Amino acid sequence: MNRLASVPLDTAVSAPAPVHAGAAVVRLTLTDFRCYARLRLDPEATSAVLTGPNGAGKTNLLEALSYLAPGRGLRRARLGDPDRRLPDGSVAGRWSAAIVISTGGDCVTIGTGHEIDGEGQTNGRRIVRRDGAPLSAHRDLAALAAVVWLTPDMDGLFRDGAAGRRAFLDRLVCGFAAEHAGEVAAYQHCLRERARLLAEKAGDATWLDALEDGMARHGVAVAAARLAAVARLDRATRAGIGPFPSARLEMAGEIEDWLQRMPALAAEDKLRAALAAGRDMDAATGGAAVGPHRADLVVFFAGRDVPAVQCSTGEQKALLLSIVLAHARELAAERGTPPIMLLDEVVAHLDGARRAALFDEIAALGAQAWLTGTDDELFAGLRSRARFFRVLDATVTPR
Ligand SMILES: Nc1ncnc2c1ncn2[C@@H]1O[C@H](COP(=O)(O)OP(=O)(O)O)[C@@H](O)[C@H]1O
Ligand SMILES: [Mg+2]
Repeated sequence: MNRLASVPLDTAVSAPAPVHAGAAVVRLTLTDFRCYARLRLDPEATSAVLTGPNGAGKTNLLEALSYLAPGRGLRRARLGDPDRRLPDGSVAGRWSAAIVISTGGDCVTIGTGHEIDGEGQTNGRRIVRRDGAPLSAHRDLAALAAVVWLTPDMDGLFRDGAAGRRAFLDRLVCGFAAEHAGEVAAYQHCLRERARLLAEKAGDATWLDALEDGMARHGVAVAAARLAAVARLDRATRAGIGPFPSARLEMAGEIEDWLQRMPALAAEDKLRAALAAGRDMDAATGGAAVGPHRADLVVFFAGRDVPAVQCSTGEQKALLLSIVLAHARELAAERGTPPIMLLDEVVAHLDGARRAALFDEIAALGAQAWLTGTDDELFAGLRSRARFFRVLDATVTPR
């Protein structure tokens, strides 16, 4: 698994590739990223189909692309997790990724990986560069391109805790509001700092006030952006997309309820007051009893009006895909650019009609989709509309 990956440059590809309207990856270069010692891939802005056996390196490749979104990528990895390891567990090298994306005719290179200090060692932080210059803010990344993903790890999204659903929703919200990731990060920072201060018990009241003010401002902004996005997604998913199930979406949460009844500034005041009043209890529990970190995205299978959690695994997967496609439609309509879609092992679970509808929808949206699977027969409907790559033992070759 540690062989040098082949470099599929200058390789003739038979099918003419449609030019995509949305932001699209035109080149991906990886160094010491999980199973890839080195990889360079030139999908040239078309959708890409990656097929190969289990353990070949397909999800790793999508994971690298998921670093185009603010956050820790589709595996929610710690900084050093993607470092390529040898069979004995030792680190063969620190990872880096360079992703060239085309957006509206311009090409931009996003580089990311460990931030390296003067001694050539990692300083424990990840750096993101745009054309060589460090990017500080989440919004700069989110503004460039929206990236969404569906992976087998998300099969339990409706069954598991609300945190996964909030993270999923927040990625969708970033497409509508680039500042959202920064607001979420700022809120979480204040939440953590406040919990730390409360735990120390020597709480400086002025500092606590300031943190709670930050929680109120960022928290209400986060809740409002989620509410607005959920309302849009609800409208779009209810309408239904071809043979995909219609979904009904709601936000459940206290701040969200307040925002339905009062202006945002009043909700901020109410949250600030609730936090101040809840210090003793929050000190005991180590969290905060109120705030957008307690909200949940509630999804119903619209036709039968049952909660998604009560649906079959197959129906739950189809609902998720409905939401992701509705999101892409909304983005394409609003910004003129659909998100880059990373669809890991999604196609194998769809029947023929839904498979065909998915491929048609990707083409109609002008989105760049990255699709993986073990069986390339299932992707026959994409033959003339995507580039096909074979992934085998960390080697990616055009078909
Ligand atoms: N940090 C790492 N260093 C080296 N290899 C890794 C690392 N993390 C995962 N791998 C290996 O990468 C291989 C491919 O994984 P993955 O991309 O998930 O495969 P799949 O093609 O089934 O999606 C696996 O064999 C896994 O053990
Ligand atoms: Mg995989």
